[in-house]
Amino acid sequence: MENKDQYAVYGNPVKHSKSPQIHAAFAEQTGQQLHYRAHKVELGRFADAAGQFFSHGGKGLNITVPFKLDAFEFAGQLSGRARRAGAVNTLALQDDGTVYGDNTDGVGLVRDIHDNLGWQLNGRRILVLGAGGAVRGILGPLLKQGPAHVLVANRTVTKAQSVAKHFDGLGHVAGCSYEGLASGQFDLIINGTSASMSGDLPPLPHHILSNDGCAYDMMYGAEPTPFMRWAAGEAAWAVSDGLGMLVEQAAESFCIWRGVRPDTKPVIELVRQSLS
Ligand code: ATR
Repeated sequence: MENKDQYAVYGNPVKHSKSPQIHAAFAEQTGQQLHYRAHKVELGRFADAAGQFFSHGGKGLNITVPFKLDAFEFAGQLSGRARRAGAVNTLALQDDGTVYGDNTDGVGLVRDIHDNLGWQLNGRRILVLGAGGAVRGILGPLLKQGPAHVLVANRTVTKAQSVAKHFDGLGHVAGCSYEGLASGQFDLIINGTSASMSGDLPPLPHHILSNDGCAYDMMYGAEPTPFMRWAAGEAAWAVSDGLGMLVEQAAESFCIWRGVRPDTKPVIELVRQSLS
């Protein structure tokens, strides 16, 4: 193990992370020699922990809740999409010793929705629920797909408005409250809130999903989330959780680190089976 290149996911909590399973599968599939582990970092200790990891020869980190902003500050160099998101989920040691920070969440979402599920994004009316870190991570790549418009709805409306303003230059994006949704209709609704984690559903009005609309929850689990159940009871003809996004963002990180793009489909299947 010691001779293998070292990678890890840093988070808190991180015990239930699927990333070690995903990257082990990618490594096996592509014949790469690497070791990937999950590591719980104490709150306020991210920079120390990441500094030690890289000074001991570690090659790359994934970063999950609640350290994506700390990783953004830690990185010596940033990709454009990480800069726009204000958050980093991937750190990579470069040949010159600097640490490069990127954000693969948005491209992961787009690949899952567009490539895996075959749902169109270009020209679509998209509603994004939530205005926290998860949503900031995906809006840039989503807007680049050329939707007709993206509306960001949030419980705290000022956060929705400021997120929309931040991404304004990339496309038609606006922020509103849930009450402000009453008269709209959307082709795709993406749930980027953490409401599903506590078994909650954002307060959505009925009839906002068009007849052939799709619904995507960035969360995943063994059971459909409350949002997925809501959408299935509305007009949605297709509903998905965010497991594919998890695997796709991991694949993009793997590609940044190793220069090889793994085949994600069998890995999505593998992780899906391990959930049940
Ligand atoms: P993350 O990094 O997962 O985005 P976050 O930055 O804490 O976490 O943001 C959580 C998001 O979920 C926010 O948009 C939050 O709404 P507020 O900004 O109004 O707090 C949203 N959220 C969490 N629980 C929710 C619930 N029960 N109903 C609706 N929105 C909820």
